[in-house]
Amino acid sequence: MSADSQIYRASTTAPVNIAVIKYWGKRDTALNLPTNSSLSVTLSQKSLRTHTTASASSSYSGQDSLILNGEEEDIQSSKRTQACLKHLRSLRAELEDKDSSLPKLSSFPLRLVSSNNFPTAAGLASSAAGFAALVRAIADLYELPQSPEQLSLIARQGSGSACRSLQGGFVAWRAGTEADGSDSKSQEVAPVEHWPTMRALILVVSAEKKGVPSTAGMQTTVETSTLAPARFTEIVPRRMKEIEKAIQEKDFETFGRITMQDSNSFHAICLDSWPPIHYLNDVSRAAMNAVETANRKAGKIIAAYTFDAGPNAVIYYEKENAHLVAGVFKNVLARVSGWEGEFSDEIRPNEYGSLEQKTLMTLKSGVSRVICTGIGGGPEKIDRHLVDEHGQPVSSE
Ligand code: ADP
Ligand code: DP6
Repeated sequence: MSADSQIYRASTTAPVNIAVIKYWGKRDTALNLPTNSSLSVTLSQKSLRTHTTASASSSYSGQDSLILNGEEEDIQSSKRTQACLKHLRSLRAELEDKDSSLPKLSSFPLRLVSSNNFPTAAGLASSAAGFAALVRAIADLYELPQSPEQLSLIARQGSGSACRSLQGGFVAWRAGTEADGSDSKSQEVAPVEHWPTMRALILVVSAEKKGVPSTAGMQTTVETSTLAPARFTEIVPRRMKEIEKAIQEKDFETFGRITMQDSNSFHAICLDSWPPIHYLNDVSRAAMNAVETANRKAGKIIAAYTFDAGPNAVIYYEKENAHLVAGVFKNVLARVSGWEGEFSDEIRPNEYGSLEQKTLMTLKSGVSRVICTGIGGGPEKIDRHLVDEHGQPVSSE
């Protein structure tokens, strides 16, 4: 192949993250700047991940394109994707201006192919893993020297929560104060190795598309909730400090309490919005009840629930308590799929969880699948490309 028609490729996988201090509210919708800082746990890519290949070639005709899970996505009309691509291209162009021997990748169309190994747009943070993978793969293709923190400024414009998926472990998104968003970026609070025994059990209640999309829901809350201002200015800043200390000290009781309080505070401002926004349902409440029962039985907080913009429950616990937390759910939900793999093998079913009959029945009828996972690392560069050497998309699995 002649040099000018070469297919340049780079591939990455990126993780999902689930916040324990929630981002809910934008102070600038165009730049995607939040009303408050947030903090999340990066989940293991052994369970949930996005795989993205970025490729560029002068032989590609037409515009930039993205094939997501086998279907062409309309990225031309997505302002957010366009903002990410424009920013990444300009960084590549700077490199090319400095070194004329570099191939002019910034002027070639991009062909992006991506696949999520879990439901897209169903409240399982596909946009976070998706935009993190897109930015990381293009940054690798362009051989950009920027750090994950610097790249988080770009991923943030794709989807706010995506800025926290460029690093592993415990990651904060500092809201920042600058009008141009230059200080609104992610920061690793602690790496995976600091607290590797952190586990997460996800109860998939619904894999349907979300009711009220995050972006629209947040705007309604910012415009109408009477409780939201106190959350933005007082409650979250205080909790950020407390939970960061709890993480440094590996103090699960405090970590768990704040996680549950913050999830409840987020859903409270949703309900306080007008028109009210409901994300939780009876199955979510049954999951909360089961977690509260496990904590009561243990006499301390050993499990913490959190819910994003949907009814799916994410339950954090430490490996040593797998039997007392996940074991109770494994006993009740033995028939649903997801009880296999590395993180599940350590969970023995616990028939002494003593849940109320109503909670048992609601969980049994409402949970369609579980995902057993734990804390994990940031994006990983891989050699398996979703675009072949001729520039054609290949199937992911
Ligand atoms: P979720 O709860 O899964 O994050 P959202 O509705 O907030 O759902 O975001 C889903 C959107 O994120 C998709 O419609 C798509 O635009 C984007 N997205 C998801 N996965 C990817 C991916 N792998 N690559 C690029 N964009 C993605
Ligand atoms: C409830 O990051 O999906 O999951 O920036 O508009 O794309 P956009 O929103 P998004 O919102 C995530 C909201 C949340 C809480 C969180 O992840 O912090």
